[in-house]
Amino acid sequence: MRAVIAERYGKPEVLQIKNVEKLTPKSNEVLIKIKATSITAASTFMREGKPYFGRLFVGLTKPNVKTPGTDLSGVIEAVGSDVKNFNAGDQVMAQTGLNCGAYAEYICLSSDELIVKKPEKVSHEEATGIQDGACTALAFFTDQVKINAGQKVLINGASGSIGTAAIQLAKQFGAEVTAVCSTKNKALVKDLGADNVLDYTKSEWQNCSETFDVIFDTVGKLSYSKAKRNLNPKGVYLTPVLTLSALMYMLFVTPFTKKKLKFAATGMRKHEPRMRDFIQIRDMLASGKITTIIDRVYPFEQIQEAHAYVDTGRKRGNVVVRF
Ligand SMILES: NC(=O)c1ccc[n+]([C@@H]2O[C@H](COP(=O)([O-])OP(=O)(O)OC[C@H]3O[C@@H](n4cnc5c(N)ncnc54)[C@H](OP(=O)(O)O)[C@@H]3O)[C@@H](O)[C@H]2O)c1
Repeated sequence: MRAVIAERYGKPEVLQIKNVEKLTPKSNEVLIKIKATSITAASTFMREGKPYFGRLFVGLTKPNVKTPGTDLSGVIEAVGSDVKNFNAGDQVMAQTGLNCGAYAEYICLSSDELIVKKPEKVSHEEATGIQDGACTALAFFTDQVKINAGQKVLINGASGSIGTAAIQLAKQFGAEVTAVCSTKNKALVKDLGADNVLDYTKSEWQNCSETFDVIFDTVGKLSYSKAKRNLNPKGVYLTPVLTLSALMYMLFVTPFTKKKLKFAATGMRKHEPRMRDFIQIRDMLASGKITTIIDRVYPFEQIQEAHAYVDTGRKRGNVVVRF
């Protein structure tokens, strides 16, 4: 079978496709033939080993796991003798977390890991593409704040993977959503349900005097110090990007103020809440309550090009690699 092998940190060229021995499932495992995997912003940071403190979790001098990739959709080809919850032929979507391994034609996963059945009418590309952004956004909207009907929510980075999912989820929860993006993405975020759109390239956000219950800075470009003037007295600034300044505010400032800053590494939560969110996202995708925004689909052979594109920081929604 073919798999990406990355022996070191670096630019997309470190991702080399090699022939490796095909995997055989253990008694508690399923063997999945992967049909599509996602190239997430986080996976490009993991490839580079940056920020450096992240290496505490993925390997100090080189990656602990040689085959990257955290999200996938595929078909179960074989199951171990003890597996009761899946059968060969089942179409599934799965997340591997820090164990990675999704940039390969096959993967073996324990049947009690984050694997759910894929809705039939959802494509493998949509099924993998939704996972990172939507599961992250949902985790913030359930664990860090509770979004209630009528609340005013501002989403910065609204055209990215987390942003496009966050707009749709906040609307599902009944919020009034203001999306911040650049000119070229205004139509996209409006189509996803944003009530108001502010163009950050035209100072529309910088000149905004409105206040919000929640500001979700999905790309970590605003900073708490700038955003707090637009927070209601008990408003919350959420970010999935842990900068040094965010850490300092979180430790030394916001414990003593009413306007909070909250960060979470959602992929490092316990299995139970992650599975709960994964099932909810799968069901919302199946019922059409949310959709996957796919910017580009690359063939597996062009995984370096896919990474280089995600490195630009300009993707709209999600980038997927198809096998
Ligand atoms: N903590 C966690 O659990 C967790 C989980 C997943 C991801 N993350 C992190 O979250 C971050 C976002 O991930 P993502 O996949 O959603 O990002 P992404 O899809 O790569 O974001 C790209 C989008 O951001 C927009 N953008 C770029 N600069 C902007 C700015 N100054 N203001 C507003 N929008 C801007 C771009 O639009 P334009 O081209 O129009 O500017 C583009 O559409 C990454 O740093 C990722 O590592 C954290």
